[in-house]
Amino acid sequence: MNMTKNVQRLAVVSALAALFALPLSAKADDAAATFKSKCAGCHAADGTGSPMGKKMGAHDFTSAEVQKMSDAELSETITNGKGKMPAYKSLTPDQVKGLVGYIRSLKK
Ligand code: HEC
Repeated sequence: MNMTKNVQRLAVVSALAALFALPLSAKADDAAATFKSKCAGCHAADGTGSPMGKKMGAHDFTSAEVQKMSDAELSETITNGKGKMPAYKSLTPDQVKGLVGYIRSLKK
């Protein structure tokens, strides 16, 4: 096997890797952007809760109390609301999943 072929192969593999990596990182960015626009007003960008959110009863997302909740419980709260938290029925299952992942990433 000659060198040029190896280099070409490497180039193709890197191009493919970049192609697949892109949508994944875009998804994580999407979740962060959705969280900032729809959720941060009450939960704060870092998930610890804005003054208003805390007054309404939101808990600190970085705490064990929230992190011990299952993905299903977090999704259920996001989709159907809870207490003073509004329901977000227009979010797609993928968006909800992304938000749950985002909340997990806030763990201390
Ligand atoms: C208007 C304020 C408000 C907004 C906006 C809001 N929440 Fe909440 N959220 C709350 C409150 C208040 C609670 C506490 C509910 C309870 O336990 O009674 C809560 C609870 C939660 C919980 C369960 C953990 C906890 O604190 O009890 C999750 C998960 C959550 N919210 C995620 C989200 C996500 C994701 C968004 C954006 C799509 C969002 N919230 C937007 C007010 C809000």
